[in-house]
Amino acid sequence: MAIYNLGSINADMTYRVPHLLAPGETLATSSLTRGLGGKGANMSVAAARAGAQVRHLGAVGEDGRWAIERLTEYGVDTRQIAVLPEATGHAIIMLDAAAENCILIYPGANRALSVERIEAGLAEAAPEDIFVFQNETNAQREAAELASARGLRVAYAAAPFDADAVTLVLPLLDLLVLNEVEAAQLERATGQGIDTIPVRDVVVTLGARGCRWINTDAGESRAFAALPVTPVDTTGAGDTFTGYLLAGLDRGLPMPTSIEMAQRAAAIMVTRQGTADVIPDLKDVTEHRF
Ligand code: ADP
Ligand code: NA
Repeated sequence: MAIYNLGSINADMTYRVPHLLAPGETLATSSLTRGLGGKGANMSVAAARAGAQVRHLGAVGEDGRWAIERLTEYGVDTRQIAVLPEATGHAIIMLDAAAENCILIYPGANRALSVERIEAGLAEAAPEDIFVFQNETNAQREAAELASARGLRVAYAAAPFDADAVTLVLPLLDLLVLNEVEAAQLERATGQGIDTIPVRDVVVTLGARGCRWINTDAGESRAFAALPVTPVDTTGAGDTFTGYLLAGLDRGLPMPTSIEMAQRAAAIMVTRQGTADVIPDLKDVTEHRF
């Protein structure tokens, strides 16, 4: 059993500033932290920390070898990550004293993947494996088709939301994970209620209100309350949730058990500053007292 993740890898560069930049303004900051980020990388790390065997399909530039090394240290199989001539994807994050932010994303290598390379990366994939992707790489439809043809369970985290991107892959999905805002956007784009989206399992995350699982086979919807925590930084909570959810399903755990584990992991994540580097491991998650 393995999880194949076609996903973005970003350098998250966070600059603390006294105020967010105004047009024409130049501002010096002495505070820079560089961390591993990107929805794809976050999900791979979360699933690996949850004990799953994770194969990351993606790309960085020459300036991103450190990101591959870090993913490897975190237990992710990085052999299918390409090093391309493009720049490594990055996010320039300005964070002011009131925790307001502005984020500029440059996708770079994340949007320069070749379908051939993805196909080679899936060569050993088997029907009991899971394929997951998000909307920060190119070749999403092609990759989902390849995975689906090999019989893998296909999961999609519809973020950052784009109506065209999700519509293109919707018929191929077995599992769709999205937050409340994205769910509303999908309803508007399809003119269909989220309960009737033709995907077998849909999980809508609701931040501090937990999440809702819709199983269209059974025509059932079930609510799960969030764990009580004091939020410090909600960045990466959704990615941690999805990584843990998939790791649970990959281990053969039922959906409710996998969701409960995912919620525990995500709740711990909102109490921590940072993204991939601070995702809790399975021991933290099972032993933590809320
Ligand atoms: P995203 O980060 O993708 O917008 P959400 O904000 O919905 O996703 O959060 C994903 C999951 O993280 C939630 O379903 C919940 O389990 C957990 N979570 C998020 N915010 C909180 C919070 N304030 N308290 C407890 N759990 C939270
Ligand atoms: Na966090």
